Amino acid sequence: MPIKQDTIEVAALYDSTSGLKPVPFSSMADTLDQGLLAGLNGMGFEFMTPVQQKVLMELPSLSTDCLVQAKTGTGKTAAFLLPAIQNLLSGYQPPKGKVGILVICPVRELALQIAKECEGIVAYLPRKIECHTAFGGTARASSLSKFLNGNPTILIATPGRLDDILGEEAVREKFTHIRTLVLDEADRMLDAGFAPAIHKILRRLPPKSDGWQGMCFSATLPESVNDVVKCVLFPGYVSLSTIDPKEAPTVERVPQFCVTVPSVTQTFAALLALIDAEYEQDPQDFKAIVFGTTANGVGLLYDMFKQALPQFKIFQLHSRMNQNSRTRTTDAFKAASTGILFASDVVGRGMDFPNVGLVIQLGLPSNSEQYIHRVGRTARAGRDGRAVMILFSNEGFFPKTNPSLPIQPYPVDIVSKMPSYQPTVDKAFSHVDEEAKAKAYQAYLGYNKTFMKKLRLSSAELVRIANEYAIAMGCPEPPLIEKRIVGKMGLKGVPGLRIGSRKGNGD
Ligand code: CDP
Ligand code: MG
Repeated sequence: MPIKQDTIEVAALYDSTSGLKPVPFSSMADTLDQGLLAGLNGMGFEFMTPVQQKVLMELPSLSTDCLVQAKTGTGKTAAFLLPAIQNLLSGYQPPKGKVGILVICPVRELALQIAKECEGIVAYLPRKIECHTAFGGTARASSLSKFLNGNPTILIATPGRLDDILGEEAVREKFTHIRTLVLDEADRMLDAGFAPAIHKILRRLPPKSDGWQGMCFSATLPESVNDVVKCVLFPGYVSLSTIDPKEAPTVERVPQFCVTVPSVTQTFAALLALIDAEYEQDPQDFKAIVFGTTANGVGLLYDMFKQALPQFKIFQLHSRMNQNSRTRTTDAFKAASTGILFASDVVGRGMDFPNVGLVIQLGLPSNSEQYIHRVGRTARAGRDGRAVMILFSNEGFFPKTNPSLPIQPYPVDIVSKMPSYQPTVDKAFSHVDEEAKAKAYQAYLGYNKTFMKKLRLSSAELVRIANEYAIAMGCPEPPLIEKRIVGKMGLKGVPGLRIGSRKGNGD
């Protein structure tokens, strides 16, 4: 079933895009198939967003290789799906059973979201086009047999599972007629974490010289991607951008603030005080995402805030959850009109949770791109939003070292409000399982170890701060860490750590 959207404020996306005016999809009958236009209409998409307009009207041909940059929440998904699908309809449909379009994206939730949008777009085509997904966390054998026996003209995949199934000859056979390969969140797909898998995948697909189209999309395209996109784009590819190089790459409708607290122990009370202050300011349909730095850290926030904020519906999403609960929570938070989602970066990029009015980041994002993508979970499709980060003193360098980001000090004095929230925090933590605290403590050490230099901390100081964080969670003493893990983190012999094995630690 196609998804019916509420009124979409596409016009608001044109405010900052000089020279472009909103154009309705209905005027594109020469370019786009009637069936696609009907699909778009069914989804409530009346006007093209700026990036959709650029791709559909400025590419020399819809099958041209391209590198496309446009801000978060401005319709990049349809901007790559439409030309790719239109190409198939213009006479390049692969033989039955073969994949014509392959979209690769970083996480499962995003693959499902893209597939859903794709289903809406193709819903009214007279000849049915199937859209399949391939990602980890699902039963390999049954999803593989569905793929092999089905007619997956479009496949949306994450790199791990795709790389895995491409090991099989029968799977490689499905790609002999590939027409378009899309890397969504392209800078992420080509960074050090994913690039090896992408290169392995590319070696098992038909060579670029066979003529398939490459498309790379993202809201952030640091210069370093120019060196690596050539694996999917031919030299001479077209670069399109709706972002003025002089502008900050975040959405300008998002006022962005930072609360800096003196000590890490105060961050929980600061978050509680901040949520209260933001809620007071705009209680109507309060829907927020709070990003934490690690999966276990987010799990802890969820456990604690479920106690501390009983008046809100609280959600959690991170990689320590099984795929079923991840999918269920994603759908529930998409549909929710209010609530607070505690999330790790599994949903930091690409995810479209409608009507999120506030994004909070607790602790450091791993880089400025990640900051931009997280902020981009609000103010989507032309709507408004706000973003606040909470840092403790050593982390305060982030806004200063990223002067292009329009981050202002938070206008309300949160620090003086914090003491009145501390009892609620302490009480809530008394209900949280000790093992959850120990895991969060360990994850905190591991994450911040990678920032030691920027935080200007020695190993001993890092441990001291992590220990303060443990005390703030109500641990009577710092949780035990296994010797093996201490070694892995490079913290062997650092004073302040308690080495030992925790009972019931499943890790
Ligand atoms: O990928 P990006 O962050 O640029 O945005 P998206 O997830 O593709 O789309 C953001 C929202 O805009 C989604 O809710 C779409 O349904 C909606 N939208 C669109 O993509 N195109 C339009 N012409 C109108 C609305
Ligand atoms: Mg996207």
